[in-house]
Amino acid sequence: MTVLDTSVAAAADTARAAPVAKPAAATYNDRVVLQFSVATVLWGIVGMAVGAFIAAQLYWPSLGFDLPWLSYGRLRPLHTNAVIFAFGGSALMATSLHVVQRTCGVRLLSDKLASFVFWGWQAVILAAAITLPLGLTQGKEYAELEWPIDLLITVVWVAYAVLFFGTIMKRANKHIYVANWFYGSFIIAVALLHIVNNLAIPAGAFKSYPIYSGAVDAMVQWWYGHNAVGFFLTAGFLGMMYYFVPKQAGRPVYSYRLSIVHFWALIAVYMWAGPHHLQYTALPDWAQSLGMVFSLILLAPSWGGAINGVMTLSGVWHKLRTDPILKFLIVSLSFYMMSTFEGPMMSIKTVNSLSHYTDWTIGHVHAGALGWVAMISVGSIYALLPKLVGRDQMYSVKAIDTHFWLHTIGVVFYIASMWIAGVMQGLMWRATNADGTLTYSFVESLNATYPYYLVRLGGGLLVVAGMLLMGWNVLKTLSPERKPAAAQPLPAAARA
Ligand code: HEM
Ligand code: HEM
Repeated sequence: MTVLDTSVAAAADTARAAPVAKPAAATYNDRVVLQFSVATVLWGIVGMAVGAFIAAQLYWPSLGFDLPWLSYGRLRPLHTNAVIFAFGGSALMATSLHVVQRTCGVRLLSDKLASFVFWGWQAVILAAAITLPLGLTQGKEYAELEWPIDLLITVVWVAYAVLFFGTIMKRANKHIYVANWFYGSFIIAVALLHIVNNLAIPAGAFKSYPIYSGAVDAMVQWWYGHNAVGFFLTAGFLGMMYYFVPKQAGRPVYSYRLSIVHFWALIAVYMWAGPHHLQYTALPDWAQSLGMVFSLILLAPSWGGAINGVMTLSGVWHKLRTDPILKFLIVSLSFYMMSTFEGPMMSIKTVNSLSHYTDWTIGHVHAGALGWVAMISVGSIYALLPKLVGRDQMYSVKAIDTHFWLHTIGVVFYIASMWIAGVMQGLMWRATNADGTLTYSFVESLNATYPYYLVRLGGGLLVVAGMLLMGWNVLKTLSPERKPAAAQPLPAAARA
């Protein structure tokens, strides 16, 4: 057991509330966890650097240099796929495979399967990185990859599911810790979403047509799109929260009962909220209203879960002063609360009529993606990675703190500029003169947006700088000629 394991076990008031299993005779497969952790950092740097590049293109459109593969339309899906599936996916796989072993007290079901999942997922990422700049796409947002890659994803995902659930099946203790419930739901839901939304008829090696058409196609796509947010970008990361927040704080989860209510409420509600992406479209009116109502209900489980995470710090708030990893984890939850308050508001039809098509949506996306998803991932990897190589902490704790501030300030610049730009665009587009003509042309609204694009770019560059610092810190932590751990003060959680 590591120092942190012992501290959590001591603090836990019941065995079921502690995110550690009974000491296991088995040794764990840390190799695959380390591989996915390093991939998380690498793809995080690449995906966010592409994000910063397309942010720059929106300010300087000539940055495409008239090269088709460098055009905004091709790089934008490269960015979304890289950050969601390569960065986010690797973080989810690293942490889920770590958590399931530690909480079940057994080694992964099969080392060969684990290796297949890692290399298979990297092959998917590579295929995406080649085909998207070439313009090969299904044209469905977040499901752009063409059918041969979709088949590969299915095979790798099934292998991942067998690995995860197979490990749970052979667990050493009866209880299944709540983090595994969240990871498990993410794995099952993503399989379902991926298969249903990608049903298509191939018309060549890199061309296919969906089996759906018209409004049905749109509804299936946004049932997928929204639940990709709900299960890929949320449920799995909540699994991370339920393991790494208590662990880093050295406290049991604030309320284990609430975590179970949180799980079932979230699972029950998310699936119905998708139509809020299609307000004022050809979708039947009742479906749009249904999406709005379920989105409003979604506020309750989202905040309930986040409060459960934040309150886990009860009695140890002072640790936030000294432990930058805990800062990452807790601030990520504040951004989660921010975006899950904003989302339900944006789903209200009258509000959506202002926000839709504007940069307000982009601000909302990144409050969730950069604030919640990226920060909880980064915090968890900082907590996890040194343990995998037998160290108490990262090479430089000070660099983690600097990363925290670079990231937080970067996100604030990003989302604040997009909110202002978005509301301004919405108001300019709907302004009319007394005679009913439009007050502003579209180009005027674009001109007014430029300064905000520059601020967003600045925020993005700060975030990328933070990720580069993380890359350096990871390299130093992994390199053999590292500083002895005693040379630096231990973070608060490790001292507890
Ligand atoms: C340095 C960090 C980042 C920068 C500078 C950045 C920049 C951008 C830009 C410029 C766009 C296009 C906006 C538009 O078309 O108007 C975008 C879209 C998007 N980004 Fe990022 N991004 C960053 C990080 C992330 C991360 C970490 C995630 C997810 C984990 C993410 C997820 C998305 C998504 C889902 C979209 C599409 C939004 C939509 O279609 O509404 N981004 N990003
Ligand atoms: C209670 C939770 C949430 C609700 C009800 C919600 C609701 C919404 C609404 C109404 C939109 C605008 C749809 C439009 O006008 O086109 C939207 C867009 C979006 N949200 Fe959320 N949101 C929630 C949480 C989140 C979180 C936590 C994330 C990220 C981790 C996120 C990521 C996105 C993305 C990526 C889009 C843009 C989709 C696109 O058009 O490409 N949302 N959300």
